[in-house]
Amino acid sequence: MSAYDIAPGVPAALERFVLPEKLGFGAVNAPVMFSAEWRDGQWQRGTLLPYGPIEVWPGSRALQYAELIFEGLKAYKVGQPRPNLFRAADNCRRMERSAKRLSMPLVPETLFFQGIEAVTRACAPFIPGRSGHSLYLRPFLYGTESGYMLRNSHSFRFMVIANPVESYATGAPTVAIERSEVRAARGGIGAAKAAANYAASLRASSAALERGHTVALWLDAAEHRYIQELSGMNFFAVIGGELHTPELDDAILPGITRDSLLTLARHLGYVVHERAIEIDELLSQIEDRHCSELFACGTAAIVMPIAALAEPDERAYRPARTDEVASKLRAALLAIQERRAPDPFGWTRELA
Ligand code: COI
Repeated sequence: MSAYDIAPGVPAALERFVLPEKLGFGAVNAPVMFSAEWRDGQWQRGTLLPYGPIEVWPGSRALQYAELIFEGLKAYKVGQPRPNLFRAADNCRRMERSAKRLSMPLVPETLFFQGIEAVTRACAPFIPGRSGHSLYLRPFLYGTESGYMLRNSHSFRFMVIANPVESYATGAPTVAIERSEVRAARGGIGAAKAAANYAASLRASSAALERGHTVALWLDAAEHRYIQELSGMNFFAVIGGELHTPELDDAILPGITRDSLLTLARHLGYVVHERAIEIDELLSQIEDRHCSELFACGTAAIVMPIAALAEPDERAYRPARTDEVASKLRAALLAIQERRAPDPFGWTRELA
């Protein structure tokens, strides 16, 4: 007997699905999703369902108080008969940390894997096979109980949806330095993958897009002096030929791609520094050519070169190179993720 139920509409939904030529990132929904409820203090049996609208109480704490955390990970099937998952156990552990920070129930590893594997297996025929393409998995957990009292819900739902995707961003975009607004402060929830952090970043992201930039770069909340991260991505600079990235604190999301790049870079012989990076010092180093390259990384973005950092008045700081170290790291990472190269770190796991 399967460990989860399969709703009657699933075979037809899978049969109907046709993988479009153009995928974008999140524009195409996989035809199935997974759902499990937490009530009376325990997890109930999960179900694989056709992808579709869900019922949510308008007064639920997920909608009223952003009681929602999520994860992002990818399944790959590039030239392979079976899909493989990249560092999925690390996503599960991060979701656990996010749940603890928001005081939500933990999704046990068995349930987390049940959800992502059920969706991945069902969608295996539709996982795009081109390098850089994948099935993006979005596990999420939200509070379903209605009520305005400021406490956690007593009931929750864990779901997994998925999207066949291309890369999140292409080329080498420019990035807007956010000098006034704040994404996350020390002691807050910035290190949790909580929907509220993304809500806090949306206005600056939209404004950046309107100005012709791709994304905003966030500075620390107390002094607006130290670089934290980009919206949805971690940040790297190549200074004097060595790699520098902001050291983690409780206001920065601990990216799994960030961690993979640090490991890979050391493996490839780069000297790597995790430290506080002052924005104004970095801009001077771009001007005097000591900083030669900038890039961002994330599950969605993989490794994204940055052509320039722009001030609110549009003064732009362009490093001399745009995709030298970044392209080496991206190639090495993708080769492991897509199982075209040996995986000395044990990061990938094929689904039987
Ligand atoms: C991810 O990379 O998985 C994210 O959640 C970032 C988001 C902007 C797509």
